[in-house]
Amino acid sequence: MSEDSGKKLTMVTCSAPVNIAVIKYWGKRDEELILPINSSLSVTLHQDQLKTTTTVACSRSFQEDRIWLNGKEEDITQPRLQSCLREIRRLARKRRSDGEADVDTAGLSHKVHICSVNNFPTAAGLASSAAGYACLVYTLSRVMGVEGELSVVSRQGSGSACRSMYGGFVQWIMGQQGDGKDSLAQQVEPETHWPELRVLVLVVSAERKPVGSTSGMQTSVETSSLLKHRADSVVPARMKEMIEAVHKRDFTAFAELTMKDSNQFHATCLDTYPPIFYLNDVSRRVINLVHRYNRHYRETKVAYTFDAGPNAVIYTLQQNVEEFVQVVKHLFPPETNGGQFLKGLPVAPTTLSEELKQAIGMEPMVKGISYIISTKVHRHTHIHTYTHAYIHTYIHTYIHTYIHTYIHTYIHTYTHTHTHTHTHTHRQHPPGPLPVSCASLRVGVVEGFGERA
Ligand code: DP6
Repeated sequence: MSEDSGKKLTMVTCSAPVNIAVIKYWGKRDEELILPINSSLSVTLHQDQLKTTTTVACSRSFQEDRIWLNGKEEDITQPRLQSCLREIRRLARKRRSDGEADVDTAGLSHKVHICSVNNFPTAAGLASSAAGYACLVYTLSRVMGVEGELSVVSRQGSGSACRSMYGGFVQWIMGQQGDGKDSLAQQVEPETHWPELRVLVLVVSAERKPVGSTSGMQTSVETSSLLKHRADSVVPARMKEMIEAVHKRDFTAFAELTMKDSNQFHATCLDTYPPIFYLNDVSRRVINLVHRYNRHYRETKVAYTFDAGPNAVIYTLQQNVEEFVQVVKHLFPPETNGGQFLKGLPVAPTTLSEELKQAIGMEPMVKGISYIISTKVHRHTHIHTYTHAYIHTYIHTYIHTYIHTYIHTYIHTYTHTHTHTHTHTHRQHPPGPLPVSCASLRVGVVEGFGERA
């Protein structure tokens, strides 16, 4: 079958991680290009626990660009989605006119169908837009054969998304230029740099945040003089200190800067007029608990940080995880009828000394925390599969079902290829045979789906 028959389908699936900032981004100097008023630094979390998986299919049969998020079709005309699509297509055209051989010209002229799912509840208030836009931009870039610095593109989807393009410890350099070309993410250290560093996400509330970060930071820029002071006089020095602490694996310095920066970010929220409250009673109890725990040991063993919501993210070292999780369980007894309280990396139960319980001296609060996600630092956005298919009978409505089933059955049953894009080209396809579930899908859902490039 010739490619000119118009039935060719190119499909790429990638996944991207969530990142949690230890020096916070809050405030833009350019709303459209998403240029920040200060630099920021984050830790990329492991994709086994928190990730977005996106499939982009591209075919001449598609009439228009469309997107489904967690199974629901969303409005593709949203300006931020349009910015990402436009930028990737522009870069692809540029590569083509520069004579780059790899550019998929079909991908350039055809429409795309995008399907994106998270492996964690979006409503849990975790940083889903960062992983989401990082994944979208990365997958589109693979479909269209775009290479190079992509964090400047994902930044235009959501500011924090630019940091999810890299693994390990990542800074977003605010840049100076008006066109935003120098406002990009850069890896400070890879994920292998500090293997003892562990992360516990304490999911405090499953409610959606009252004020989104986009509008929240806009009001802060307009009204908070503390935010201006923070951006001009606090963050530049703090970035240097934080990078130094990461380089040296100095947990005390890392932890103290993390807590102070989270506190200052929430102070700027309170300084915003009208004020924004992201922390709730449970968040404040976690803050107290961490300080009492550290004071008991006369050592900074644990740090907290909070984004635009009440969930606490705890950074600590491997040797403290078991005891600290036990402390959390003791102070926030899990609901007996609920699901698993501890998700992610296993943590063995331990016994707390009476001395420690007394030093913390807080009354248990039932149902304060819904669950804990135990995780660690991980690497960047990566490609799972790259497929070319020739579809004899393309039935439009099937594609949605197909992509969904593809993600759920193929990605989850196929032993993750975890292919690094840095070592493989975009035409690489996964090694080994297709799993049974996908093989049956090939016949069952999209008739004629067959050839893999
Ligand atoms: C508190 O990246 O979600 O999590 O750029 O408007 O999409 P937009 O905002 P977003 O803001 C994240 C704010 C934060 C701090 C951080 O991640 O640095």
